[in-house]
Amino acid sequence: MSFRYLGNKTKLSEWIVGEISRVIPAGSSIADPMCGTASVSLALAQAGYSVTAADALAFPVIHARSRLLAKQAPAFKAFGGHNKALDWLRSIPSIEGYFFREFGDAGSPANGRQPRLYFSASNAARIDGIRISIRDLARSGTINKLEHSLLLHSLIRATNKVANISGTFGYFLKELSKNAQNPITFESFQFEQTPGSHSVLEGPIEKLASTLCVDAVYLDPPYTKRQYAGNYHILETLAQEDEPIAVGDGGLRPWKEQASDFCYRRSAGNAFRNALKQLDVPHIFISYSQDGQVHEDELLAILNDFGKVTLHEQSYKRYRSNNKVKDDILLERLYHIEKK
Ligand SMILES: C[S@@+](CC[C@H](N)C(=O)[O-])C[C@H]1O[C@@H](n2cnc3c(N)ncnc32)[C@H](O)[C@@H]1O
Repeated sequence: MSFRYLGNKTKLSEWIVGEISRVIPAGSSIADPMCGTASVSLALAQAGYSVTAADALAFPVIHARSRLLAKQAPAFKAFGGHNKALDWLRSIPSIEGYFFREFGDAGSPANGRQPRLYFSASNAARIDGIRISIRDLARSGTINKLEHSLLLHSLIRATNKVANISGTFGYFLKELSKNAQNPITFESFQFEQTPGSHSVLEGPIEKLASTLCVDAVYLDPPYTKRQYAGNYHILETLAQEDEPIAVGDGGLRPWKEQASDFCYRRSAGNAFRNALKQLDVPHIFISYSQDGQVHEDELLAILNDFGKVTLHEQSYKRYRSNNKVKDDILLERLYHIEKK
């Protein structure tokens, strides 16, 4: 799944799964509780692991449900099959609603600010029409939870593609890009027949860590100060199916309650300690970049308190949301902690 997302490990997942498989065999159970796009969850599932995925935010949970749990097409009885469900999605009429008003280039935000150019007016109105229709179907019980997730997943992916942003939804571009002028389109659903038994949970690691009963945990926390809740507020609103107050010029949903301790220099070290303390599993793997909030020496000191640490490194091209820096090579690190 090509998806613009900070820290997306799609390109590193083969390496990560390769290193994990040297330690625990396929068939074992592993949790990915900060799953983001669920790229590592899916790669682990494809390699034969039973995966438990989770995230503090709602839209990664939608990704994980769709990518892990939809092993085959659900019945979509309301439509007569998944292809008909997709036809339905593609044909829903536009509505000039919340997205049109708050995030479209012809909108008039409730707080009196200038129109926010996250989307062309026509795409914003299509997103409104579709999200309202999906929400109504779910509320009336016409679709089940997995069908609901698949429809939302499709809408989130399609929305991300036509967003007028440079990488994140922290702000919009001043002019509508060529990409944003394209009409929103919906790709076919994808189903992955993976062998394991998977589950998807919702909530932050702080709440879930002590409940994870698995052979290993893979942690991929944020490593910069950029909060995912703020930077992906529009995707979160699609997943939560609500209409929050759109604050300031950027129209962010109130996100402070979902702020991650891993993003603050002052709290990131303790966030690692707390998670490691609560995880009662024999093996923990952690992805962390060399320029993370926690300096490598400090991180090693923390990890060493919990068991034997092995470090694996791989060079990769840094994700730049403004695309200005090219060929900026960094070292991605995968720490393995064999717990005491
Ligand atoms: C680096 S991204 C993960 C990327 C993912 N591995 C992928 O390939 O797409 C970090 C994720 O951690 C989540 N996150 C941040 N703080 C969290 C917390 N305290 N508990 C659970 N998830 C958290 C964010 O919402 C984000 O999706």
